[in-house]
Amino acid sequence: MWKFRDVISILDFTREDLEHLFSVTDKTLERSLDVGRPLDGKIVATAFIEPSTRTRLSFEAAAKKLGADVINLEPHLSSMAKGESLTDTLRMLDDYADLIVIRSPYEGSAKHAADVCEHPVINGGDGSQHHPTQAMIDLYTIRSLKGRIDGLEVGVVGDLKYGRAASSFIYGLTKFNVKRIWLISPEPLSPRPELMDRLRSMKVDIVKTEDLEEAIENVDILYVTRIQRERFPDPAEYEKVKGSYVITKKLLSRAREGLKVLHPLPRVDELSNDVDDTPYQAYFIQAKLGVPVRMALMGLILGAF
Ligand code: CP
Repeated sequence: MWKFRDVISILDFTREDLEHLFSVTDKTLERSLDVGRPLDGKIVATAFIEPSTRTRLSFEAAAKKLGADVINLEPHLSSMAKGESLTDTLRMLDDYADLIVIRSPYEGSAKHAADVCEHPVINGGDGSQHHPTQAMIDLYTIRSLKGRIDGLEVGVVGDLKYGRAASSFIYGLTKFNVKRIWLISPEPLSPRPELMDRLRSMKVDIVKTEDLEEAIENVDILYVTRIQRERFPDPAEYEKVKGSYVITKKLLSRAREGLKVLHPLPRVDELSNDVDDTPYQAYFIQAKLGVPVRMALMGLILGAF
């Protein structure tokens, strides 16, 4: 089901695949004091040509907890700085490692890496549409906190056009039977046509709105995302939408009982620090769950579980 698979898009996985991953993650957490070293002798390579804190370090922590060694490509210290192509660089990593995790600003880089490499490739985020392992963590977090994903009303707020975490999360929700998805963004940051087509073809009940307050009163999960300055082709377009939404403790006082706020992080100014100490806060739990989910993922792909 998972052995030697590439992880390029959340859409490549069935609900059954995801439920199996979640169940292995449960076991990983249950055995957290004694996971053993099933990947002893394996090498995981990280090739991050775009900044990251959570993805790179949680993959590294997860690999080490499983007993694997980790090698990191540092683009500015590698021969890429002398002009070596990404393709040749990937060929080298494929020679040295058993599994490659790639992050890149360029759409399609992970698929390209999977085509070049014989070993499995995991997309740690490429371009503005796909960040599949983030979506797996997001879905697992909801399942952990709410006991289910089916039947929930989920709001996604922020940059739904360029935000790859938001897009992947919404694609991931279409694998389950959520009650309704609220898409909350300024019009220029509405989801791309292909994502809207997917929602319509899966007959998902959607509300597209700019009214954050109305959404907050109705949702069980509020998934907040940063408006990503670095992905706007035109800086003037960013200036028009920056600071469109700020989630505060006061705003959340209108929320349904039990609402949980998720955010893939990093945050800038769209999510106030005053939410951190409230029962709404789930984003630090979500970040922490990155390690066991990625342990389960790599263990499954490398045949340890
Ligand atoms: N959520 C996420 O992808 O964070 P990083 O960019 O820090 O990896």
